[in-house]
Amino acid sequence: MPSTSSHSPGKAILFGEHAVVYGQPAIAVPVLQLNATTYVLANPIGKPGEVSIEAPDIGLFEMLSALGKENPIKSAINETQKVLKIDHLPACKISIVSTIPIASGLGSGAAITISLIRALSKFLGQELLDSDVNAIAFEVDKYYHGNPSGIDNTVITYEKPIYFIRENPFEIIKPMFPINLVIADTGIKSSTREMVNGVRQRWSADEIKYGGFFTEIGSIVAEAKISIENGDLQKLGSLMCQNQEILHKIEVSHPTLDRLINLAMKSGALGAKLSGAGGGGNMIALTDKDHMEEIISNLKEAGARMVIKTRVEGRKR
Ligand code: PMV
Repeated sequence: MPSTSSHSPGKAILFGEHAVVYGQPAIAVPVLQLNATTYVLANPIGKPGEVSIEAPDIGLFEMLSALGKENPIKSAINETQKVLKIDHLPACKISIVSTIPIASGLGSGAAITISLIRALSKFLGQELLDSDVNAIAFEVDKYYHGNPSGIDNTVITYEKPIYFIRENPFEIIKPMFPINLVIADTGIKSSTREMVNGVRQRWSADEIKYGGFFTEIGSIVAEAKISIENGDLQKLGSLMCQNQEILHKIEVSHPTLDRLINLAMKSGALGAKLSGAGGGGNMIALTDKDHMEEIISNLKEAGARMVIKTRVEGRKR
């Protein structure tokens, strides 16, 4: 009997989170050091439709039929079946494992969804196009986020650095030089839905002020794209710090994020900011090779839960 698997990376938003929800551009990169993997195993002695789900990282051990309609795993399976026009699943066991911290801004939800869509469609003998996978994952992300921009599902589906504007075709960015990033987890869980809702409330209370912040972020992102393509890493770092200042103003930073960001800068980073929805979760620091190890060891010493390095390849070394 068949068994299939698929894995998807994590992601980091380099620039433009939150403002992207309001139509501004953002830049995101895949984080290949982290991943979510889904295995689908046929159960030859099970009855048709008998599907068990195991996702130990989120403490889920259930029959599919017992999950509520708005459960993101159930909705990923339902949406995949809808697109493939398959009413009943053969008996199988679906196992999901992930090294991506949950509720931390590194794309855990979208990575789980995308690995699940791909493993299940392969299992059903009908592999989907990336564009279909992306569209299904976007629908499912609405269960996690409420009003997602679509950047998470897009960067994780295509596994390439992207320049993204909501409801527009995305662009793959080709950096001139490699981009070395250190990513550190505050260990503080934060709900993207709540953070996005908080920004919306503050925006509704003062649309002019917040609209101004979002436009400023949009200009930083446009400059950042040029710096990445031209290989101006000094400039890129300073743009990250400018983006962080505005994220602070829109009240999505957190004292622990601020502390780790300052520490990374003092340790020689070219730039640093929170990444994702904020309120906890992860910060990222741009570094050259010479300062990387010092930044990592200082962040660890300061109590960061998980510190990883990742590299976005460039056209030149
Ligand atoms: O999923 P997170 O925590 O990385 O946040 C996504 C980024 C936001 O801009 C805050 C929301 C969105 O939908 O783009």
